[in-house]
Amino acid sequence: MKILVVGGGGREHAIIMKLAESKRTEKLYCTPGNGGISRYAECFDVAATDIDGVVALAKKLAVDMVVVAPDDPLVLGMVDALNAEGFMTFGPDKAAAIIEGSKVFSKDLMKKYNIPTAKYEIFSDSESAIAYLKSENSYPAVIKADGLALGKGVIIAQNEEEAIEAVKSMIDGKQFGESSSTVVIEEFLTGPEVSVLSFTDGKIVVPMISSMDHKRALDGDKGLNTGGMGTIAPNPFYTEAVAKECMENIFLPTIKAMKAEGRTFKGCLYFGLMVTPKGVKVIEYNCRFGDPETQVVLPLLDTDLVDIFEAVYNGTLADIDIKWKNECCSCVVMASGGYPQSYPKGLEMHGMDDNGQVDGVFVYHAGTKYTDGKFLTNGGRVLGVTATGETLQAALDKSYAAVKKISFENAHYRTDIGQRALSAK
Ligand code: AMP
Ligand code: GLY
Repeated sequence: MKILVVGGGGREHAIIMKLAESKRTEKLYCTPGNGGISRYAECFDVAATDIDGVVALAKKLAVDMVVVAPDDPLVLGMVDALNAEGFMTFGPDKAAAIIEGSKVFSKDLMKKYNIPTAKYEIFSDSESAIAYLKSENSYPAVIKADGLALGKGVIIAQNEEEAIEAVKSMIDGKQFGESSSTVVIEEFLTGPEVSVLSFTDGKIVVPMISSMDHKRALDGDKGLNTGGMGTIAPNPFYTEAVAKECMENIFLPTIKAMKAEGRTFKGCLYFGLMVTPKGVKVIEYNCRFGDPETQVVLPLLDTDLVDIFEAVYNGTLADIDIKWKNECCSCVVMASGGYPQSYPKGLEMHGMDDNGQVDGVFVYHAGTKYTDGKFLTNGGRVLGVTATGETLQAALDKSYAAVKKISFENAHYRTDIGQRALSAK
């Protein structure tokens, strides 16, 4: 098969490396891709959000399958456009992608179908939002932009002053444009977070191996929120009992609810969960593979990914036995100094071979460029250095040993990825 992957980060690199393992893969293409991806797939400069451009590219290349990985093209309806042209496409259509595209939609869905989540109210004018905050008087308070906001649309306000400022900048200041003209204010939950990606064809749902993200920029969960500074899998807080509770109360009810709403979800549905003292609750849904969760989940997959994508498209997922390696995986993100705020680009990188790899690990490129035989930094998150091992400690040792071999000016990474998981009972 000739396969086109849409996107250009570490997640897409991990998807491409797994597709490359399949006997059914003849040729891999990626748009826009990045420096590391370009060593394994032919890359193009069509933007991931350019629906007409991607459809035209898929036609020109006469591909047999298209995988749409990032949230924005999914929410914009890229899958609908590709399906309309007859392409076998992996990813939800626009009607289903709203589960991530609108927090108001997803919160109302959970309320209607009794899926456990934080208590919430919705506001489109700051006066009523502020009146509500004052009447609840409960902090921290969680304020979320309704629409996509590059992962930055959630503010955890520690007091009334911060909460009012957040509401005003989102609704009145249009901090995230139309995305924040409506906000959700919700109850603050506590407990360990678990990410569960799942394959679903709209009929059944097959959870993948669980994982744990590390969202803050600095060690000890300090510093600013980022897209994710590292991940480990499996997540020790996702016990068998928790998995059973999730399947019964969250995964199956969500799939059924989407179907009942006429929005059958086919693709990868990501459940962002919190194991609270009052049971597992949904923090968020994403309509796609997580980044950097995918980087630790797919290396553990022991079933042909092309077969799975095809079965999701055909609605025959029940016919496939999806197997996982009995191992652990860790991904340590190397970021540009200054990320998640401003940072330089174009810094030369050292320590990787000509494919952008280091022996014994998978180096998934997130923000790199390959020119004249050199790799240059080209984004905030630059690399996800990923290793598998029989134990989490063994995987982490390999990831960190490889991280130490790679260098670029002011490279920043957390030194405590996996520590919370290691100390979990
Ligand atoms: P989200 O973009 O919805 O995943 O939110 C980003 C992060 O904010 C989550 O990973 C949580 O750490 C935190 N968060 C979101 N909602 C809540 C909540 N209701 N209570 C506590 N923390 C939350
Ligand atoms: N790592 C979180 C996400 O992909 O949204």
